[in-house]
Parts: sequence; C-alpha cells; structure tokens
Amino acid sequence: MYLPERRLFSRPTLVICLVFFSLLSVSTFLHLQKNNYYPWWRISIKNIFTLSNHEHTSFLNTTPGTPSKNLDRGIWTVNSIGRLGNQMGEYATLYALAKLNGHQAYILPAMHQYLATIFKITLPVIPSELVGKIPWKNYHLHNWMSEEYHHIQGKYVRLTGYPYSYTFYHHIHQEILQEFTFHDYIKEETDRYLLQLRGQRKEVTYIGVHVRRGDYVNLMPNVWKGVVADKGYLEKAMNYFREKYHDAIFVVVSNGMDWCKQNIDATKGDVYFAGDGRESSPGRDFALIAHCNHTIMTIGSYGIWASYLAGGETIYLANYTLPGSPHFKVFKPSAAFLPEWIGIPADLSPLLPKS
Ligand SMILES: *[C@@H]1O[C@H](CO)[C@@H](O)[C@H](O)[C@H]1NC(C)=O
Ligand SMILES: *[C@@H]1O[C@H](CO)[C@@H](O)[C@H](O)[C@H]1NC(C)=O
Repeated sequence: MYLPERRLFSRPTLVICLVFFSLLSVSTFLHLQKNNYYPWWRISIKNIFTLSNHEHTSFLNTTPGTPSKNLDRGIWTVNSIGRLGNQMGEYATLYALAKLNGHQAYILPAMHQYLATIFKITLPVIPSELVGKIPWKNYHLHNWMSEEYHHIQGKYVRLTGYPYSYTFYHHIHQEILQEFTFHDYIKEETDRYLLQLRGQRKEVTYIGVHVRRGDYVNLMPNVWKGVVADKGYLEKAMNYFREKYHDAIFVVVSNGMDWCKQNIDATKGDVYFAGDGRESSPGRDFALIAHCNHTIMTIGSYGIWASYLAGGETIYLANYTLPGSPHFKVFKPSAAFLPEWIGIPADLSPLLPKS
C-alpha cells in the first residue's frame, strides 16, 4: 500500500535531477563553444595537457576541463633580447606592467633559460611550442614610465624594447628584489669569496666596482657622442668611499680587466681584481658586486642592476655624452639613476676639438 506512494514521492525528485543535469550539460557545452572562438586556445589546452615537462605544467594552474583563471586574464610577455642587465630589465618591467594592467605575465623560454640559472624567478614560462601560435600584439616601450602604460589594451600583449628603468617597478621594489634572489649555491660561493677577501680583518666595507668596457669603448664616441669611464672618474669615486669608510675594500669586475689593472691604482692594498670577465656567463661577477655593501658603477644596465640589488650607496658616471647626443632619444638620466644615487660628471674633453 505504501510502496506506490513512496514511488510517487521519488518521481519528482528524479525529474528535478534530470532537468538539473541537462541544464548543467547545456551550459558547459555553451561555455566550451564560447572558448572555441580562439582556435589556438584548443590547441594550447591540448598541448599543455600532453606536456610531460613539470616546468610547463605551471603554465596552467588548473584541473583539466576548467579554463584557468590565469588564461582568462590573458597572456602578457616581453621580448627576450640583450644580455643580463637587459634581460633583468625586461623581466621586471613585464612583471610590473602586467600587474598594473591586471593581466598574467609569462616569460619566453629564452628569458627563462637566461635568468633562471642565476635567480629564483617565479613567472611561469610559455611552452616553446605555443609561442608562435599566440596572436601577439606587440607594444613598444621606451625606457621610462609613461601615463599610457597604465592602460595598455589587449589580452595577448608582447612588450618590446629594452626597458630597465626603475620608474616601471620601483613602487614594488620588494617584489622585484625577491624575484632576483640568487640561488643558494651562488650566494654561498659569493659569501665565501668575499669572506676570503676580508682576511684577518674583523670588518670591512665592500665596494663593488663595475667597469663597463667591451663594445662600449667604440660605441660611446662613435655612435653616442660620449665617453666611457676613465681613470679620473674611478679615482674620485673610490676616494669618496675611502674617506667615508676607513675599512673600504674594492671588488672590481669588468669585461675589460686588463684595462682595469693598468688604470686602477692598487698600491694601497685595498683593490681586488675579482672579476673573471666572462661575458658568456656573467652571473658570477654580477653576484659578487650585488653582494657588496655599496657600488661604483660606470655605464650600462648591468651596473644599474648590480647597484639596485646591492642597495647601499651608488656612485655613477653622469653626463657622459655631449648635449644633442642621439643617446637622449632612448635614455633619460632621471629615469635610469635613482634620485639618491650620486653622480660624478664625466670628463668630456676627449670629445672636444683640440685647441
Ligand atoms: C656588507 O656586505 C657583506 C657581504 O655581503 C655582509 O655580510 C654584511 O652584512 C654587509 N654589511 C652591512 C653593514 O650591510
Ligand atoms: C648633468 O647635467 C645637468 C644639465 O646640465 C645638470 O643639471 C646636472 O647637475 C649634471 N649632473 C651632474 C652629476 O653633474
């Protein structure tokens, strides 16, 4: 007697369940259809799920079937050009601008290869199979922050240029410094080396000295109407620190170590020519000066980054090009050197006509 009644009672429940599941399937279907608008999207999801490389699984922080929140926020990246200082600048600029515009930043495999051997960087990497399939919109940056960079449009933006100015990322400098944390083995090796330089002394103040030579020795006078750091500049900068810290020692790295040995006075016993000058693997030299307490830099983004990471006092070569140099089209001193850094003007007399 009671049995049919109980069946009658359960029938609507069954119907409700059926209707509910039909609606769910239809909405899921529609959702997937909507995403099919981007043909590469399907390819990407398929490719990503067949990847076995663990590094690449971070590209999709999601479970199969649910489009990732990160992918919804687009894919922003930056070109991977130049050497260490440029690569760091491109990375930091992408990190900051993507965040500012509410998009997810990813780096190209080449940049990952360059920077991840030195630093504990965290931005996910775009699998190389995907790079060519994404409909990038290139967006060129000059090397200083501008109002329009707060409103860059596009879901698949590739920033281009050689940006490294602190004006892009100084407002989040703690995060940027965190990204450029050295791997433990590099830090340990560097600490050991610096301790060795200290010798029997109880305390020393380490001054990292980066002397940029190499291609710039020709580029500066011939292309940029400028000079590179000379003997006089380095002497003035070193004397500033010698007067301030009685225990200062100078740790010199350069891609022109021979010039340094001939032009930096080491007779006081406080100068160490520490750099190996290997441009192909710049990480060791860079770590050395970035771990010093203060910095003397000359020119170039490598020195600027070493100073930024070291975080103490920085002396830089100022006004090293003639007025009207084409350099000012791509370089704005106030956006390259932090306001608290100390500039020593260059001697431009080698560029002036001989009287
Ligand atoms: C100076 O640098 C050395 C080497 O990195 C470090 O051990 C020391 O704590 C620093 N000193 C100061 C005062 O920051
Ligand atoms: C560089 O030149 C500018 C313009 O002449 C001047 O204002 C500035 O003080 C100079 N910088 C240094 C460090 O001498």
